[in-house]
Amino acid sequence: MNKEMEGYAIVVHGGAGSPRDYDDGCERAARAAADELALSSDALEAAMAAVTTMEDDGRFNAGSGSVLCLDGATVEMDASVMDTRGRLGAVACVQGVKNPVLLARAVADSPHWLLAGEGARRFADAIRHPTWDQISEHQREAHQKVLKELAGTVPAMPGVSNQAFLRFWNYQSPLNLPEHMACDTVGAVVRAPDGHFAVAVSTGGSAPSLLGRVGDSPIIGSGFYAGKLGAVAATGIGEQIVRHLLARTVYGWIEDGMPLEQALKRGVDLFDPAIAVGLIAVSRTEAAVHANRDMPQATIIQP
Ligand code: GLY
Repeated sequence: MNKEMEGYAIVVHGGAGSPRDYDDGCERAARAAADELALSSDALEAAMAAVTTMEDDGRFNAGSGSVLCLDGATVEMDASVMDTRGRLGAVACVQGVKNPVLLARAVADSPHWLLAGEGARRFADAIRHPTWDQISEHQREAHQKVLKELAGTVPAMPGVSNQAFLRFWNYQSPLNLPEHMACDTVGAVVRAPDGHFAVAVSTGGSAPSLLGRVGDSPIIGSGFYAGKLGAVAATGIGEQIVRHLLARTVYGWIEDGMPLEQALKRGVDLFDPAIAVGLIAVSRTEAAVHANRDMPQATIIQP
């Protein structure tokens, strides 16, 4: 560890609604971020190190663990990065790439801030980002759970009739219906020793979802935000999170001087308890986590 480093804070989450059994994956991710800080002192590099670790873990709904779309074959992923040096990049609905968060970082150096779908995929090819099209047993099992839930009477997505997915079906292959609504995201927020902040998030989106669906994770101010006073990442049902511009709203309360724990609790309390929501944040002096579900997490604070 670089002896000249001063205090820093790293907070990582593995998705609202995911089991705390996965805390070890978040702890590994937070340590990767701390190692990166020791090397580069760069908050964004550290946040990305944490998120790539979780994308590669296989248990989280991001990167290689992303949920399958309803056709049981397609994976569509979203990711974003932002820091106080002005770096801002995101990808939406991208298929076949190994680490969407690294692609989002590369977009930050492009003429644009957000690339989606086939264009994002071609951008990945242009920068020689590794492809990834393997589907794991974990992903197949999660997909079977979603199909079972869609076949039942309890809404697979709170507040939305299961029939809506059949009515608006937009996959080429038919839906073969024979419990679980996945909407988790992974995220990391970092305050570096030099006082800069960064956030990185990544998700396989929600299940069930129609083809082409994009949630909050690549939408600035909804799933992520970083400014001079802190960084915030959200997780949960994107369709609801965007309605509150959740990350920017919470950041506004930080600007107002609200204690961080209170700001995160207020953010989560904006939602009906049926809606899974979680938040992590760092400010100049604090680091905090709050969720209305179990949420794997890890925090490292170096005073
Ligand atoms: N929060 C992840 C999503 O809704 O896509």
